[in-house]
Amino acid sequence: MSEKLKNPTRRTLFKAVGAATATGATASLLPGCGKGEKAHGDNLGFSEIPHALDEHHHLPANYSADVLLRWGDPITAGVAEFEPAQLTAAEQEQRFGYNNDFIGFMPLAADAGPGEGERHCRSRNSERGLLCVNHEYTQPHLMFSGYNDEHSATRGVSAAHVAIEQAACGHAIVEIEKTASGWQPVLDSPYNRRISLNTEMEIAGPAAGDTRLQTKADPTGKKVFGTVGNCAGGKTPWGTVLVAEEGFGGAFQGDPDNIADPVEARNHHAFGIEPCNRNWGDHDRRFDIAVEPREPNRFGWMVEYDPYDPASRPRKLTNLGRFEHEGFTLVSKPGRPIVAYGGDDDEHQFVYRYVSEGIYRPDDHRQNRELLTDGTLYAAQFDEGGSGRWLPLLFGRGPLTAANGFRNQADVLIDARRAAALLGATPMDRPEDVETNPVNDCTYVMLTKNKKRQKDDIDPANPRPRNTAGHVLEIVPPGRHGARDHAADTFQWATFLLGGNPNAENPNERGAYGQQSAGAISASGWFANPDNVAFDPRGNMWIATDGCEDFGFHDGLWAMATEGEARAAPKHFFGCPRGAEVCGPEFTPDGSTLFVSVQHPADGGKSTFDRPMHRWPDNDPALPPRPSVLAIYRRDGRAVGS
Ligand code: FEO
Ligand code: CA
Ligand code: CA
Repeated sequence: MSEKLKNPTRRTLFKAVGAATATGATASLLPGCGKGEKAHGDNLGFSEIPHALDEHHHLPANYSADVLLRWGDPITAGVAEFEPAQLTAAEQEQRFGYNNDFIGFMPLAADAGPGEGERHCRSRNSERGLLCVNHEYTQPHLMFSGYNDEHSATRGVSAAHVAIEQAACGHAIVEIEKTASGWQPVLDSPYNRRISLNTEMEIAGPAAGDTRLQTKADPTGKKVFGTVGNCAGGKTPWGTVLVAEEGFGGAFQGDPDNIADPVEARNHHAFGIEPCNRNWGDHDRRFDIAVEPREPNRFGWMVEYDPYDPASRPRKLTNLGRFEHEGFTLVSKPGRPIVAYGGDDDEHQFVYRYVSEGIYRPDDHRQNRELLTDGTLYAAQFDEGGSGRWLPLLFGRGPLTAANGFRNQADVLIDARRAAALLGATPMDRPEDVETNPVNDCTYVMLTKNKKRQKDDIDPANPRPRNTAGHVLEIVPPGRHGARDHAADTFQWATFLLGGNPNAENPNERGAYGQQSAGAISASGWFANPDNVAFDPRGNMWIATDGCEDFGFHDGLWAMATEGEARAAPKHFFGCPRGAEVCGPEFTPDGSTLFVSVQHPADGGKSTFDRPMHRWPDNDPALPPRPSVLAIYRRDGRAVGS
């Protein structure tokens, strides 16, 4: 989600080596995963694209991109081609949603059908699978005719449009296959479905049923309709998908100061619930906190569902805490606990880790399915000198007691931000994706930016005041390469890179990359505002950005090695059309296709449905700009980036 949507004064939904040099922290000098390890992944053979800013997407020579799914495209057979003026909420439930973000490619085995996830999830099929895509938020001024700007659309949306928006949020599961003419959706697939704000879900884990999750519509506190603010996510080795709930506060309207319970008033303020938020509550009363003051507590969780079982019901995993989840990604080692890493994408919020109570058994998925409902959540403390500690969020431990207002473990999880702060976790520069490189077994934290960081609150892990360009940290768990202990209580960390122009005059804005002094990166090799990250099968890191237009060029993808001489030396691979951010990079298991989400194309300035700044990807005067998923591949069929 772009910064303007995350600002508490946001006008629309879901929020609608500078100082590092001073501390001696440069990207290539600190110890880390790259030191002393076997070099790999420095064979990125594509020809780089230049920085640009226009209405097109950009790829290296010899690559193609299929526009696979666009907002409004039918995802079931028998649904008509998209005509925006004819759209209804019921129809939107059968069409691809708005503002696609996370992408999970879940392979389909040839010899298994619906409900047989245990067999599908062992497949490495790279030509047929389920594309599982988040739809983060809606933008009525770009979806419907008649709104002058973002602001007019925020407060005055009609009941019919609100219903369409609620159907356009959430998630989509679409079977796709690679054909002689490229990647295509399979519209008569039994797997295809939408998850929206109307989908019934279970609440699972220690907070399920707690009084703070009970509402008039659900006195059990265990059943909720829908998910919202679905940013990034994750996948499990037992064939389920994790969906994050990030900027949920912007979906609710009302003044927290009018809530009788001071605990909930503080809680709602912390997540940006304001009287000036959009007007969903006028038409769907549970989104007005004056009517249902506890409904927001039922959002801000991670959601797990089974894409291989179309009849399955999603569940919210309260064990993973409640905050503005960017996503959670897993480290799964046979005979070891499951470890999951995640970020809370807000200024001065925290990096989290979850460790399961039980161990992962690759041959027992029935047991594995409970690993995310029984375990411990931790927040990260990044200490000076490159060491760090994981602090457990457990009721009764340290400050997490009645003296500080915690009644039980449910309170600790519902107010995870407050618990982590009391424990002494390190406030970070907006943690986005946190993901582990399967090749070198180190974990990488995308810190997108933090303009609110002051000179007097910098620290070694967040070294720049008014951090406009963001940075990337590397977490190195104890143990040798390939056998690190992600469940340990301590870790080492290093600055992997600092975003920004390496030639910037202001040292606080100056980028630092690996081998920078050797001139290893090109004029377009630098970027800012890392957001999502993926690793190709060779262990190369692919970073997706959100904010480079502030630096004069498009958002896009930059690829780099994490080890060897080319460690942290990015190459520019993909550029978005103007107004868009790129999300969800996801490879097929063999690395031959790279899926990307192009989110909010033509967003910004006075751009509206009636007068958009461009109409990507259709460039058809009858169609608005449409958030879309691209399937990118080399024309000769070899691995992307090779
Ligand atoms: Fe939705 Fe953190 O970006
Ligand atoms: Ca973002
Ligand atoms: Ca994001």
